[in-house]
Amino acid sequence: MLFESSRVRLRKMTKEDTELYHKWRNDIEVMHSTNPSLDVYPMDATKDFVDHVILGSQTAKSYIMVEKGNETPIGIVSLVNIDYKNRNAEFIIDIGEKEYWGKGYGSEGVKLLLDFAFYEMNLHRVSLRVFSFNDKAIRLYTNIGFQEEGNSRQSLFRNGEWHDIIHMGVLQNEYFEKQVKSI
Ligand SMILES: CC(C)(COP(=O)(O)OP(=O)(O)OC[C@H]1O[C@@H](n2cnc3c(N)ncnc32)[C@H](O)[C@@H]1OP(=O)(O)O)[C@@H](O)C(=O)NCCC(=O)NCCS
Repeated sequence: MLFESSRVRLRKMTKEDTELYHKWRNDIEVMHSTNPSLDVYPMDATKDFVDHVILGSQTAKSYIMVEKGNETPIGIVSLVNIDYKNRNAEFIIDIGEKEYWGKGYGSEGVKLLLDFAFYEMNLHRVSLRVFSFNDKAIRLYTNIGFQEEGNSRQSLFRNGEWHDIIHMGVLQNEYFEKQVKSI
């Protein structure tokens, strides 16, 4: 079903999710593998970011992943930089509740948003960027059908070392052929 898999449901992110997002945004363990500029953010800065960048954008759609049944929010998935003319967008996923890592929730969340992007929005292409040390995410994206398309060498400085940022993408027909449809 659209927006619903066996264990995950996507609901639209709202202003009321600001505090939840603030908690995830300030968790260095979560942000280590996803945020190019680690920092601690005051609530006012998060409010501003949510209002203007996440919810205020005409070219972004963000959804909170909740565990079905108990409705516990576990993470966020977004399509950003949506280009309606060229039918493409960038994909982001962050599971903020760490006890949900490594249990397949990420795979379900990615499939749900890609199903929406390809079967409903009729996008032609979805791309993403991932840090080269994020083996779990790269494996997940590859399993789902993303291919490596490029590599920005040494563009992330983390823990005192340089890392590459890998560019991945999947086309609508490739996604359909993979038959990972969960709706
Ligand atoms: C990255 C993230 C979305 C992955 O979601 P997840 O629910 O933890 O991952 P899944 O359980 O769906 O597992 C994905 C795959 O990685 C594999 N995996 C798990 N741990 C791994 C590790 N340390 N190294 C390599 N692969 C690993 C799993 O076995 C699975 O592959 P399989 O289905 O072939 O067995 C999630 O961990 C997360 O949000 N992390 C913090 C923020 C982040 O890194 N976001 C992504 C930024 S690009």
